[in-house]
Amino acid sequence: MLSDLALFLKQAVLQPKQTSSLVPSSRALANAMAAHVGPQTGQVVEFGPGTGIITEAILAQGVAPENLTLFEMNTAFAGALAARFPGVTLHVTGAQNAPTLMPATVGAVVSGLPLLSMPRALRREIVSAAFKVMRPDGIFIQFTYGQTVPLSDEGLATLGLQASKAKKVWGNFPPAQVYVVKRAQI
Ligand SMILES: C[S@@+](CC[C@H](N)C(=O)[O-])C[C@H]1O[C@@H](n2cnc3c(N)ncnc32)[C@H](O)[C@@H]1O
Repeated sequence: MLSDLALFLKQAVLQPKQTSSLVPSSRALANAMAAHVGPQTGQVVEFGPGTGIITEAILAQGVAPENLTLFEMNTAFAGALAARFPGVTLHVTGAQNAPTLMPATVGAVVSGLPLLSMPRALRREIVSAAFKVMRPDGIFIQFTYGQTVPLSDEGLATLGLQASKAKKVWGNFPPAQVYVVKRAQI
C-alpha cells in the first residue's frame, strides 16, 4: 500500500489542479483547523480530505465518526479514506454537491480545498454550499497560503458572511493561515 506521502504525490501529478499541492498538510495545520470543532459541534463536514490528516485531527477532537461526513472527489483518495475511516460517511463527489446530499443540520464545515486555485464562480458555489448545509450558527474553517481570506470582500458580502483570522501555522510548508467564516448576522 502506498504511504500517504507517495499517494498524495502521485495524485498531485495525475490531478494537479484538484490536488493543488505536492504534500499533505502538516499535523500542526491539521490540529489548528480541527481545534474549532469538538463533540459539542454536532454534525461536522470535511471538504477535500485528501489522505485524511485533517480527518484524523477532527476525530481526535472527540467528534464521533457517525457525526463526520467527508466530500472527496478524487477516487484514489476516497478509496484510502474509506479503508482508514470505516465509521465515517464518505461522498465521492464535489463539495459543491453537498446540499443535495445533506440536510441543513451541520455545525461546522472544515475545508482543505484549494479555493484560491479554483475559478471564482466555483469558489463561491462551494462556500455557498457549505452554508446551505449548516445551521444558522455554523462555522466554515478554511486555510490558505495566501495573504487574505480566499473569498473577496464582495463575495463575502454577497453571501452575507464575515471572516476572521484564527491561527497562523508557521511550521507548515508553506506557512498557512486559518480563517473562520460565519454568517454576518445570526
Ligand atoms: C490541497 S489538497 C488538501 C488535502 C488535505 N485536506 C490536506 O490538507 O492535506 C485538496 C484536496 O481537495 C480535493 N478536492 C479538490 N476539489 C474538490 C471538490 N470540488 N470537492 C471535493 N474535493 C475536492 C482534492 O482531491 C484534494 O484531496
